[in-house]
Amino acid sequence: MKQLNTSLGKLKLNSPVTVASGTFDLENLDFFGQDFLGAFICKTITRHSRIGNPPPRLYESEAGLINSIGLQNPGLDKFISDILPRLNAALNIPLVVSISGSSITEFAEIICRLEMESGISGYELNVSCPNVEKEGIAFGVHPEVVFELCKTLAPFTQKELIVKLSPNVTDIAAIAKAAEAGGASSIALINTLWGMAIDYKTGRSQIKMGVGGYSGIGIKPVALALTYKVAKAVKLPIIAMGGIYTWQDALEFLWAGASAIALGTANFIDPLAAPKVFAGLQDFLAEKKLGLQDIIGKCEV
Ligand SMILES: Cc1cc2nc3c(=O)[nH]c(=O)nc-3n(C[C@H](O)[C@H](O)[C@H](O)COP(=O)(O)O)c2cc1C
Repeated sequence: MKQLNTSLGKLKLNSPVTVASGTFDLENLDFFGQDFLGAFICKTITRHSRIGNPPPRLYESEAGLINSIGLQNPGLDKFISDILPRLNAALNIPLVVSISGSSITEFAEIICRLEMESGISGYELNVSCPNVEKEGIAFGVHPEVVFELCKTLAPFTQKELIVKLSPNVTDIAAIAKAAEAGGASSIALINTLWGMAIDYKTGRSQIKMGVGGYSGIGIKPVALALTYKVAKAVKLPIIAMGGIYTWQDALEFLWAGASAIALGTANFIDPLAAPKVFAGLQDFLAEKKLGLQDIIGKCEV
């Protein structure tokens, strides 16, 4: 099988196809080999364990999924003692650890602790979470906070430092530029959009918390536009996601400027989506006699 090599800053990937945080676990790898995947991005880890939000916290909408998982995770210590060794034993592709904090200090504490462990190739900063130092408003909303976060964290690691942007902002390019100026080495986008569904008969929200995060095919045009905008605004490589289900979807994101893509909601619909996307990309490029570099960022308007 010919590999489709790409890179994300310092990270060399054998495939541009990866998986989005929170939508894929080691069990998914039982369905197919890892050769199709460029990297494994794990569920976001926080300093302390989180039980997540009360149910119902998942709702399948007309064109995608609304989730309100609430960053449920076992916390940093358990991740290091239980999960990381399992990931390291199972994976032969780069592992990117997604992390989140409630303050810049907490992000720093998590990275410094993880730097003492082996088997981690990069960090993905989930900045869609509330910042207790800024009235609970998400980190990713303020360019100056994103700059400060990256500037603080970058000196702590030589590994790939990926900032995952929230689409729930007015000017995503300004946030991406702040991440670049602060020392991030790549950008991931997009996290979920705000979404809601209401039972029209009872008037009750389908999600206990009222509003959740919307993902899947319905957000694809938004994700594509934001990928295109950010690719024009910064030099950093981009790992793009948002409604990618097929190899044709993946190609659109590569044309728009992504160096790699991730499948999220698609994994819940078809556990074989990732190898199918890989095979489709491979066939398309072979038939057209193109390399990935002929596609990435070459969208014409
Ligand atoms: C059930 C679920 C859980 C998620 N958990 C996380 C998470 O822990 N950290 C994170 O950064 N993004 C999380 N996401 C967002 C995805 O990683 C991805 O950015 C988003 O779903 C858009 O991609 P998609 O449309 O392909 O699903 C989650 C998404 C879903 C659907």
